[in-house]
Amino acid sequence: MVSGFFGGFTSWLYPSHAVAEDRTTPHEIEGPFYPVMPQKDKDFDLTHVTGRRGPAKGKDIWITGEVYDSAGNPVEDAMVEIWQANAEGRYNHPHDPNPAPRDQNFQGWAIVPSGTAGGFRFHTVMPGSYPAGPGWERPPHIHFKVMKRGFVELITQMYFPGHPLNETDRLLQRKTDAEQKLMIAEVLRERDSDFHYRIVLERA
Ligand SMILES: [Fe+2]
Repeated sequence: MVSGFFGGFTSWLYPSHAVAEDRTTPHEIEGPFYPVMPQKDKDFDLTHVTGRRGPAKGKDIWITGEVYDSAGNPVEDAMVEIWQANAEGRYNHPHDPNPAPRDQNFQGWAIVPSGTAGGFRFHTVMPGSYPAGPGWERPPHIHFKVMKRGFVELITQMYFPGHPLNETDRLLQRKTDAEQKLMIAEVLRERDSDFHYRIVLERA
């Protein structure tokens, strides 16, 4: 009872709109491999393609997260879209010059709405790194596009914590330390297969 009383009291003293503004997630270029080929299966599980038996090759990972506005309120029903290279670093895109093999069992692309409390989740494989130019290997990353009426469309790239190629990436290294922190997922429960990514949208 006592804690309930104090809990209620403090939330009255510090209503959510008084919380310092959250920094919005930095934008990043869309890149050349936004999916262009029609695809029926765009559900949250990228490790299985409807109608195919085999799972995608590579290391299984889970990405969970939430979408917020900059005042810290959850944003429900935002369209959260991702696309990424397969475990070998190859996109399912006709203009990807990487000779690494395609994986017919990898979905590569997904669109889900954020749900209760702004939550979303994806089951996928760790994307491979890939060459992006002379002396430049892009670190594993996942492209995100997040849309919701009333907010600025967010196009960005999510990175994985502690990857050595993060240190030399020409896109990520253009960002300030504070921005990089907002673009790199967190490890959950100290498992290298579970990541958390918080997205903060800017109101339009
Ligand atoms: Fe990419």
